[in-house]
Amino acid sequence: MRLLEGKVGLVTGGGAGIGRATCLTFARDGARVVVVDRRSESGLETVRLVEAEGGEALFVEADVSQEADVERMVAATLEHFGALHCASNNAAAGAGFAPVPAIEPKAWQRALDVSLTGVWLCLKYELPALEASGGGAIVNVASVSGIKGEAHQAAYSAAKGGVIALTKTAAAEYAQRGIRVNAVCPGGVRTEAIAHYFETVEGSEAASVATHAMRRLAEPSEIADVVAFLCSDRASFVTGHSMVADGGVLVNPHTL
Ligand SMILES: NC(=O)c1ccc[n+]([C@@H]2O[C@H](COP(=O)([O-])OP(=O)(O)OC[C@H]3O[C@@H](n4cnc5c(N)ncnc54)[C@H](O)[C@@H]3O)[C@@H](O)[C@H]2O)c1
Repeated sequence: MRLLEGKVGLVTGGGAGIGRATCLTFARDGARVVVVDRRSESGLETVRLVEAEGGEALFVEADVSQEADVERMVAATLEHFGALHCASNNAAAGAGFAPVPAIEPKAWQRALDVSLTGVWLCLKYELPALEASGGGAIVNVASVSGIKGEAHQAAYSAAKGGVIALTKTAAAEYAQRGIRVNAVCPGGVRTEAIAHYFETVEGSEAASVATHAMRRLAEPSEIADVVAFLCSDRASFVTGHSMVADGGVLVNPHTL
């Protein structure tokens, strides 16, 4: 039997990168998928990709920092598929690159609104929906930046550290109610966002690769596989955990 056979899975930021890969992995693992993104074109493209492989998917346009959008996203899921069993709260925003004193307040706020408050809003509406569906699992996408910090990315790192704490808290509250809540902490992943960064900042790709003991970045599907595992019954005793999937960023990358 496939890992998520018969389940309904929701992915925020499903229009690109890790989110799109997670939608495809969920579908390949047997789930019906709700693709959530604030960009309809890319979200609909993910639906097309899922359907091209014989899967079933629904697109919901939503900005995870807006409570009304998040409420509507979960309501649309229940209306269309009748249940919600797993969710990956993956959408996030950075505040650009600047040292702590130089961060623009608006950029700080937007990063926190999307990357931390957005995850809380998703939990707020997903948890009751999962409970009403007989239980399930949530995986929040954090980052190694939330564990070790990241120079010139304070808002992003603070938000991701917050996601890790939020994950543990929600896990504690729902452990006896049939819902597991975990996080995944990726290292560098080859998505459009990171490709743009590498193009903009000279030497950044080699520098980034060098911080990974494996001396490479991940493909989005490698993170999606971790999300699917944590969502599945194979991880039935795992909750409140922030699983590092970083190619060795957090081990000493210089020993090899
Ligand atoms: N790429 C990496 O190297 C890396 C490393 C560690 C953690 N992460 C985390 O992985 C997750 C996905 O990153 P990615 O690199 O795949 O990003 P990406 O930029 O490739 O894709 C993000 C998607 O989220 C959508 N999105 C952005 N803001 C949104 C909002 N407010 N509401 C709804 N949708 C929104 C975008 O439209 C886009 O489709 C993020 O949480 C990111 O912080 C990424």
